[in-house]
Amino acid sequence: MEKLNGNRKLRASVFISGRGTNLNSIIKFSKKKKSLFEVILVISNNSKAKGLNIAKKNKIKYLIVNYKNKNSAENKVLKNLKKYRIDFVCLAGFMKILSKNFISNFKGKIINIHPSLLPKYKGLNTHERVIMNNEKFSGCTVHEVTSKLDSGKIIIQKKVKIKKMETPRSLAKKILKIEHEIYPLGIKKTFNF
Ligand code: GRF
Repeated sequence: MEKLNGNRKLRASVFISGRGTNLNSIIKFSKKKKSLFEVILVISNNSKAKGLNIAKKNKIKYLIVNYKNKNSAENKVLKNLKKYRIDFVCLAGFMKILSKNFISNFKGKIINIHPSLLPKYKGLNTHERVIMNNEKFSGCTVHEVTSKLDSGKIIIQKKVKIKKMETPRSLAKKILKIEHEIYPLGIKKTFNF
């Protein structure tokens, strides 16, 4: 991953589709005294995403993009990333798959968080599948985004133990908590500050 930090603060965009709790943890981290990045723009494909309230509360610009036509949606997003001079993108519960063309326009500058210990359990319903398979551990992973779903280079991972009576819901809750810890660390590690 390309090192981006010079003498200025890096400019980040976070893409969401829903709750935005990871967005919140990224914003919180970016507001720490010594942070070297700021969240400039939030992108959502969903006008009802709760995470938009987090952007509003923090006075961060947000853009709702209709994905009915993916090509024009992505062009609109790319135009805005350029307009706001965005250095890197964090996907945080963004439910759309980015096209190869989109990724190549921001090569090495897009990261994602996934609620499993990748390369295991790519895709959706991870917690249900983890429990069905009687796994002893699960966790979450921050990784680079490539055109293959949940397959880019692993940046940071954290494990949790699965209890006997664990349910997908309790596991999701437990993992979400560590997601909030490792996403900011993943950003820090990726962009080397
Ligand atoms: C998280 O579990 C994340 O790992 C996955 O989508 C969920 C987003 O949650 N990619 P939130 O919107 O950040 O609360």
